[in-house]
Amino acid sequence: MKTLTVYSSLTGNTQKVAEAVHGIMPPGSQLASVKDDPDPQGYDLVVVGFWVDKGQPDAAALRFLNQLSRRRTAFFFTLGACPESEHAQEAADETAKILEQGGNQVLGHFRCQGKVDPALLEKMKKMLPPDNPHAQMTPERQARLEEAAKHPNEADLEKAKIFAAEILQKAS
Ligand SMILES: Cc1cc2nc3c(=O)[nH]c(=O)nc-3n(C[C@H](O)[C@H](O)[C@H](O)COP(=O)(O)O)c2cc1C
Repeated sequence: MKTLTVYSSLTGNTQKVAEAVHGIMPPGSQLASVKDDPDPQGYDLVVVGFWVDKGQPDAAALRFLNQLSRRRTAFFFTLGACPESEHAQEAADETAKILEQGGNQVLGHFRCQGKVDPALLEKMKKMLPPDNPHAQMTPERQARLEEAAKHPNEADLEKAKIFAAEILQKAS
């Protein structure tokens, strides 16, 4: 069994999770950044990792997901919000839909919280109108960002490996 783990990562969170996932894959498996435009042909399982951007897979990952066709797949993502939130569920549903529309089989997915780069937060705040919720700091948002700042942690990476083992089992 040869697997391809493709990731898109702006600030490193998703890359860390991708490395954990790839770390338990069988010999001959590959880990690649989506920037290198990896060819998914010839692999028994393609695992796609991305970061959530405005509720969706980030643009680079979205391009890759949209062109994947008739493959056995799984996916994972990191996001600032709680992985159990409705927001995370919607991102997962949307991704599964994209993959299924391409005739791909989806074996499962994994969600992981990821710290939000403070420099990017500041930039976003400056770009948005002051009444936009993402330009304002509420106690709830502050608490979410503080929690996100602790992830991905060792426990998350262990969960990522369990996810990888489960999808490998499903694929074999
Ligand atoms: C421009 C931008 C948009 C984002 N949009 C969302 C979002 O809609 N929902 C969310 O939960 N997190 C959002 N985030 C947080 C990232 O998804 C999160 O920090 C992720 O772990 C980053 O992964 P990376 O380090 O692999 O780039 C956003 C971050 C940035 C910079």
